[in-house]
Amino acid sequence: MDQGTTIENASPKGQSGADVGTRAGSTAANACTLVIFGADGDLTKRLLIPALYNLASSKLLSNDFSVFGVDRGQNTTESWKGSLDHMLRSFTTDPTSESYTPELDEAAWQWLSQRLNHIQGDFTKDDTFTDIRKAIGNGNAIFYLAVPSRFFAVIIEGLGKSGLLRQEDGKFRNVIIEKPFGSDLASAQALNACILKHGDESQYYRIDHFLGKETVQSIMALRFANGMFEPTWRREYIDHVQITASETVGVEGRGSFYEGTGALRDMVPNHLFTLLCMVAMEPPNSFDADDVRSEKAKLLSAIQPLDPNQAVRAQYEAGTSLGHDVSAYRQEPDVAPDSRTETYVALKLLIDNWRWAGVPFYIRTGKHMAGRKTEISIHHRPAPYNMFRDTPVDQLTPNVVRLLIDPEQGVVTQFDAKVPGPEMRLGQVQSALHYKDFFQEKPAVGYETLLYDCMMGDGTLFQRADAIEASWRAVQPLLDAWSGNQAQLHSYAAGSQGPEAADALLARDGRSWLPVGHEAGSQQKASK
Ligand code: BG6
Repeated sequence: MDQGTTIENASPKGQSGADVGTRAGSTAANACTLVIFGADGDLTKRLLIPALYNLASSKLLSNDFSVFGVDRGQNTTESWKGSLDHMLRSFTTDPTSESYTPELDEAAWQWLSQRLNHIQGDFTKDDTFTDIRKAIGNGNAIFYLAVPSRFFAVIIEGLGKSGLLRQEDGKFRNVIIEKPFGSDLASAQALNACILKHGDESQYYRIDHFLGKETVQSIMALRFANGMFEPTWRREYIDHVQITASETVGVEGRGSFYEGTGALRDMVPNHLFTLLCMVAMEPPNSFDADDVRSEKAKLLSAIQPLDPNQAVRAQYEAGTSLGHDVSAYRQEPDVAPDSRTETYVALKLLIDNWRWAGVPFYIRTGKHMAGRKTEISIHHRPAPYNMFRDTPVDQLTPNVVRLLIDPEQGVVTQFDAKVPGPEMRLGQVQSALHYKDFFQEKPAVGYETLLYDCMMGDGTLFQRADAIEASWRAVQPLLDAWSGNQAQLHSYAAGSQGPEAADALLARDGRSWLPVGHEAGSQQKASK
């Protein structure tokens, strides 16, 4: 991440603006071969190939770059390229897609397409790894595990045994692992132990795609490149913090995956804790990957054991979402009619350190809610004394700083201002800054920076083994409490703000959630 850190003078769009989609000013990445396991899958088609195309279009790939897609199906190189060509053209011409562009950069796509190769192979067979070794030779290589998690250990063992992870003559051999990394603390520890038998920690890049989002990375810039936020960002001034990732989509045909996963495992120890780290970690000594990741791990291990009495799990019932009738979760394909899997979770957590002691962090995420909103809101304590007591003002409203991550990207501050007139009256005002008004953004699917960083050997935006385990350790008390059939499961109507029990969680502390939805742009695109 350090290679691309530059400062530009941002001005309202139309004048000079930084190209934030794919790191303006960065040089082409190191030469390497990218081997994608799961070449025929959705992730490859919808995100990896469009991200590589965007990198090619920004000239951020080396001339000596090539891709080998590996999968079991009947694809040949020609048929694979043909299906990717079809997909890319349909995404780039769809105005609702993250990859939409008024005009496909044909030269960039041809450049990339010439470098695409397909290997037909079963991930569980030794022959597959022999074929890969012959195909890629001795140069730098990245192995991308775009496969269901049950194949992670199998593939890494295959890579290890066939010598593909050996780094010789200064060449790198890196592995990118998608989520979910384990399903609880024990399985995450076992997976870490298994993969570390075959390679060094520095070779593993565990992805959390939230860290590929520009606005998540920009939280570090907001906090640590400015003098005005950080000094008040602590227990003396902050009343509480809310972290929300509400979605309008449901499980989108992923019922069989979701049934065994649920909202807690799917979103909390990974995406929501990533947001928590960005907003709450101490300033790292530098942008060096280990400095940043050590601060995150430190923060995660300071989370007090979660209290099941301070957490709510719920499942959506039938309702109306964005004007459409939505059936109940239990009616989704591949979902048991008596399923007890949660599609919503809300919880309160406390961080046991000097900066945050006593400040509650309220976290919630849910499918089929009233609006699409990924946001962190920092609620300040009210002004320390009421000098307005002899005026018509009877109440001061706490200031809120809202970090908008998705679909809006920016910062909103809410504060009190004097209403014009002879009397002292206060009105709440807000000032909204949208990054798109300052920076010209290229179409990006969020994987561009992550792929580029891996090619450059920069692990800042990836999760280290200790942080992964600290996250699972933090949620383990809830996993344990919710594992039987006894745990209470609340319900909420699809298209609503979530279950009443989640409102009660905050009401008990005299607080309330900021609403989700009913804002422009709260409609959701297909999720990862
Ligand atoms: C994925 C989860 O990791 O993240 C999905 O498995 C979820 O269930 C998605 O919808 C949310 O990501 P985004 O980028 O669409 O907010």
